[in-house]
Order: sequence, then structure tokens, then C-alpha cells
Amino acid sequence: GRCVVAVDGPSGSGKSTVSRRLAGVLGAQYLDTGAMYRAVTWAVLVSGADPHDAEAVAKVAGEIDLEIGTEPDAPYTHVDGTPVDRAIRGPEVTGAVSAVAAVPWVRQLLVAQQRKIIAATGRIVVEGRDIGTVVAPDADLKVYLTASAATRAQRRSTENATDLTATAADLDRRDRLDSTRTADPLQQATDAVVLDTTELGIEEVVARLRSLLDR
Ligand code: CDP
Repeated sequence: GRCVVAVDGPSGSGKSTVSRRLAGVLGAQYLDTGAMYRAVTWAVLVSGADPHDAEAVAKVAGEIDLEIGTEPDAPYTHVDGTPVDRAIRGPEVTGAVSAVAAVPWVRQLLVAQQRKIIAATGRIVVEGRDIGTVVAPDADLKVYLTASAATRAQRRSTENATDLTATAADLDRRDRLDSTRTADPLQQATDAVVLDTTELGIEEVVARLRSLLDR
């Protein structure tokens, strides 16, 4: 039956791994909304537009064909038919994505596309920053994952093989940008289950979410 799970939280909280794994065990689809903001950012950079020029960013966002695969075993992101999965995790995109995600028209466009995907599948784990509050306020389960700043930086730097100090600084910068922007800041839904994953392994988190869904 229908089952929409909203997973929100900051970088390095374990969102992606937990969401994919949960989707797998539920036999559900998986939607990485961060990949969509990253893909628009990639297109903006490739076009030569300034990521801080909201008008230019909105124009690029409106022109591209963004396709996102939702199989938890094989998610993919295509822009105009080109796979961008690796490029969107690079430092250039990571450095510019918060500015692009702050443009209201970009958010409108992507939220509409996300809602379409959710409606078409009906059984899906959706990961992001505004899923429980904006994209799917009627989700069957809303989860807000957190972890200490040190743990989040550690996880990210291990994952991407990047320098710990630089990674910590980047996370801190994006946390601040993402939580202070006026267009849909990262917010905890009042009815979200908050899980601090600092001391929890992936399997433990997934098991807790499954038991919440079983209730
Ligand atoms: O996990 P990490 O923060 O590295 O990246 P992500 O989930 O891929 O999201 C990248 C960026 O996209 C975030 O820093 C936000 O600026 C933006 N984003 C957003 O605004 N809304 C979402 N639903 C998802 C991501």
C-alpha cells in the first residue's frame, strides 16, 4: 500500500545511507532531493552562469531536463540525458549548491517535480531538507536525523576522502546557509521523530524506523 517516509536532516546525519537501506527493505522507491538541487547547480556551473545570480539560475533551471532514478539499488541523476552522478558530488557543486537552492523559483520547480514522483510511486522514502515540512507534509512517517557536528564531519570526510578540517568548515558553512535562508529553511517538522545518530549504526537506525512504521 501507500507509504511515504520523509527523512530530513543536515549533512552527515546518515540520511542517504539510511534512506536507501530503508527503501530497500520496504520494497519502496528512493528519492534523493539533494541530488536534484546538485544537478541544477551542475547545469548552472556548466552554463557559465553565476550561481549567485538568481535570475540566471532560474533560467537554467527552467531549461534543463532533469531525470532522477528512484530504484534504491541504482539511483541516478541525468541532466539532458547526461549522467551527472559523479560530478554533482564534486567540490565545485558542493560549494555552490546552497546559493542555487536558495532561489525560490528553483525550489518551486523541484518541489513540483518531487511531488509528481511521490504521487506516481506512492511507496517511497524521500530524503532532503524540507520533505516533512514542504514537499510531503502528509507523509506517513517523518524522521529528522541529527548527529553531533564532529561526527557529521568525520562521516563526510571518510565518505569523500577529504580533509577533516576542510570538511568540517564546509558543513558548518552549509548548515548556516541552509538554516538561515528565507526560502524554506531546513526545519524540523513538529510531528517528526527526532533520532540522534551520533551513537547509532545504520542498521540500528533502519531497525528503529521499521518499528515505527509497524506501529
Ligand atoms: O547530504 P549533503 O548535505 O551533503 O547534500 P545533499 O542532501 O545532497 O544536499 C545538498 C544541498 O542541497 C543542501 O546543502 C541544501 O542546500 C540543498 N537541498 C535543499 O535545499 N533542499 C532539499 N530538499 C535537499 C537539498
